[in-house]
Order: sequence, then structure tokens, then C-alpha cells
Amino acid sequence: MIAHRVSARRLTQLLGNWRGEGHGYLELASSIELLVRDGAVVPGAALPAERPLAEELGLSRTTVSASYQRLRETGVALTRQGSGTVIRAPRPAAGETPAAGQQFALDLSAACPEPWSGLQELGAQAFAQHPDTFLTTGYDTLGRSELREAIAARYTARGLATSPGQIMVTLGAQHAIFLIARTLLSRGDRSLIESPSYPHAREALAATGALVAELPVGLHGHDAVAVIETVRRTSPRLSYLIPDHHNPTGLSMPSELRTQLLTELSAQGGYVVVDETTAELTLSERRSVLPFAASAAHAHEEDRVLTVGSLGKTVWGGLRIGWIRASPEMIARLEVSRRIGDLGTGSWEQVLAALALERYDEILEYRTRSLTARHRLLTEQVAALLPDWRLSHAEGGACVWADLGAQRSSALSRECARLGLQLTPGPRFGSPGVFERFVRLPFSASEDDLVASVRVLEQAWTAEPREGALQVHEDAVI
Ligand SMILES: Cc1ncc(COP(=O)(O)O)c(C=O)c1O
Repeated sequence: MIAHRVSARRLTQLLGNWRGEGHGYLELASSIELLVRDGAVVPGAALPAERPLAEELGLSRTTVSASYQRLRETGVALTRQGSGTVIRAPRPAAGETPAAGQQFALDLSAACPEPWSGLQELGAQAFAQHPDTFLTTGYDTLGRSELREAIAARYTARGLATSPGQIMVTLGAQHAIFLIARTLLSRGDRSLIESPSYPHAREALAATGALVAELPVGLHGHDAVAVIETVRRTSPRLSYLIPDHHNPTGLSMPSELRTQLLTELSAQGGYVVVDETTAELTLSERRSVLPFAASAAHAHEEDRVLTVGSLGKTVWGGLRIGWIRASPEMIARLEVSRRIGDLGTGSWEQVLAALALERYDEILEYRTRSLTARHRLLTEQVAALLPDWRLSHAEGGACVWADLGAQRSSALSRECARLGLQLTPGPRFGSPGVFERFVRLPFSASEDDLVASVRVLEQAWTAEPREGALQVHEDAVI
């Protein structure tokens, strides 16, 4: 099989500011390894031929050649007849054992709290109270009626009148985002995403062949004038926004900007996908956040909004329950499109989800308490050990965005990996090569792990730049 080849230019873009302070072949090899770990270069991809890559990077061919050799020695790549140096699948082959130390002791790659502790009780309750679940066929591309009713009732209680016919239950928010993207976007269409943003949403937009333009979001939020200007210039068919609470800054979009944005986008005939996966994770106090679609002044504006929700960050990622709120006509269109990819959401997951929603206020109160304490702890630890870093003032969600004051995010991430801390570098949250001055810091880990992680961050930040290889992991960024 001929492998898909990454061009020298593309790899150079992806590598961004890879050099840190050194120039060696080991540093190049570990930078490529980091791209593999973050999923930016996938297994089976052929690396560029040595000469064009050396030219693009301004290095000697010997350096590139030695880096490739290093990648082969460490098991990241292999030589394949006709394709050259190809990234290997991360799983060990039969009979091979994974290298020692492949697990990271600490993990700041996921902005996702631990599973809610009441799940086992809900499981028992589900089996005891809903044996009739086994009597259904189980093929369910819209969602069980009691769950759709519960989701709709929550929107109504939060200030956005919603009927069950406006809800489709999905396999988590990511499934919902890609389902919407592949239904509404075609190759060459223009789409828009905040920058930085949640990487897998960007990938979902790009996978449709759409062009992806960017709305800048800074450490202090959106620049409203620049946002409206970009919208007017781009006239996107579909925009993906995370108004509450933006991943990775944890900020909320100002309400005037919501109204303005929605007016502009709907006047252009565009759709707005609003990802509210973390809208109900608030910090400091439990408050009700008005759904974005409630900013619509007219029904035709509301009809352009497709809201995505999930229980992934509030209850449990493993539940794989999310949903879409849209007009009944749009839900019908999405249902037809969905059947190409999957035949519905698991029945038991939906039963558990409906039971969890009965206790949702209690669950959210617990999340607010614990995330507020963890956020405070992370902020204090960073202020004490890394006083030059500046953090976004998160209002909710599970992460902050840190301005490092120097273009060292990828190098920091490499050094953290060497010290046993998995950290996603800033460029993963934007287009290739940007955000080298930033890093996302989730505060969803336990308090002990947060304290230990900030110590490692400080050690990695103050360490002399060093060369070394990483272990390969094909990790998602959540
Ligand atoms: C903003 C955002 N949207 C969607 C998702 C995916 O959620 P789910 O697990 O429900 O697919 C995540 C998970 O990290 C997220 O941060």
C-alpha cells in the first residue's frame, strides 16, 4: 500500500517553532514524535523525503537523516519499500511488550473531570426500574422520548422554550458536531471557528473539505470589532462557536456580541453551531447560563442555530450521550444523514442519562464546588511557581489558557513528557504553527495531581533546553 505522504512544507508548518534553543537531530525527532502523539501526523503517513525537508527547515540533510534514523530506532517510524520513512501504528506488534515508562504519571492533556460518583447507583436503578428497555429493537436515531423530553424541559427551564421534537440524542458532542458539519458543509464551503478552539471541532470542519477561517480570541476574550469584520469578510456557511465556556480560555462571550453575531450570521444565510458542552460548568457559584439560542431576536434567527450539548463533562465521558437542539425540520434532515454513519444511541446509555438528568442540579452543584476549588488551586500554584505566566480569567469550563511570554510551548511540552507529565502544546488549538506562546492548562485533575503537575511545569520551564525522545501516544485532546 502506498502511504499518504506529508509534504515538506506541511510538516514544517506543523512543526512550528520546534527548535527551542537547540538544533539537533534528537530535537527534530522528538518534535515529530510530539506531532504523532497529538494526532497531527497519523500512523501510516509517510514523512517527506529528506532533501526537501532539509531545505524547508534550513538544516543539513545529515541532520534530517539522523532524525529519521532516531524515529526508526525508537519505534515511531519504520522503513517501507516504496514509501520511505512511515509513521508506525502505536500498538505493539504481537509478542512485543510496550516500552517501560510509556505511561505518563500526570496528565494535563484532558480538560475532563472524573466520572460522577453516583453512576453505579444509577446503573442499579436503571436495571431495576427499566427492564422494558430489553423489549425495544434498540435502533434509535432520534433518542428515547423520555430523554428527549427531559433535555427539552431543561432548556425551557433555562429560559429557552424547547419541545422534544427539537432534540436529537447523539453519541456525545463530537458525534453531533461532525454529523452537523458533514450534513451542512460541502467541499470548498467557507466555515468559521474561534482561534484558539477545541481541536476536534476544527478537524470535523476541515474533514468535510470546507475552508476554515478563524475568529481571534485573546486571553481576555473576543475582540468584538474584529469578530464582526471577519464575519462580514468571510460570510461563512457554518460557524462553530463555544460561547460558554470557551475551550481553552474558559471565558463567556459578552451578550451584546452574541446578538450582533447571530444577526450578522443569519442575515448571510449561515448556520451557527453552538457547542455548549461546558455551558453548565460554572465557577465560583452555581448560576444558570442562558443558552446562546435565546439571544435570537426572531424565530428565523433561532432556526439558524444548532446547539450541541453533552453529559460528557458533567456526568461521565464514558456515557457517550450528547444531543443537538435545532428546528424540527433540521432534526429530520440530520436524522436522514445520520443513518449513513450509525444506527442510533445505545438504549441503556439513554436510560442512565435520563436518570442522571433527574439529579442534574445536585451533580452540577458538586461540579461547581470541586472545579472552583481546583481552579483556585491551579491559579495559586502557577502564580507562586511561574509568576511570569498570565492566565485567562475563566468563568467556567475546565481549563485556562496560559500566556507563557515566550514562544516555547512545544519545547515545554516535550520537556514535560520527559518528566512524566502529558501536556498538549498551544499550537494544537489553532492552525499549524500558531500559539507557540500559549499552553492550555486544565484544572479537572485531582488537587494532588494539580499541585504535582505545576511543580513539573516549573521544572520543565526552568530546565536547560534538552534533547530527548518521547514515547509515542495517539491521544485525543479533550
Ligand atoms: C468544547 C468541547 N466540545 C465537545 C467535546 C466532546 O464531547 P463528547 O465527549 O460529548 O463527545 C469536548 C470534549 O473535550 C469539548 O471540550
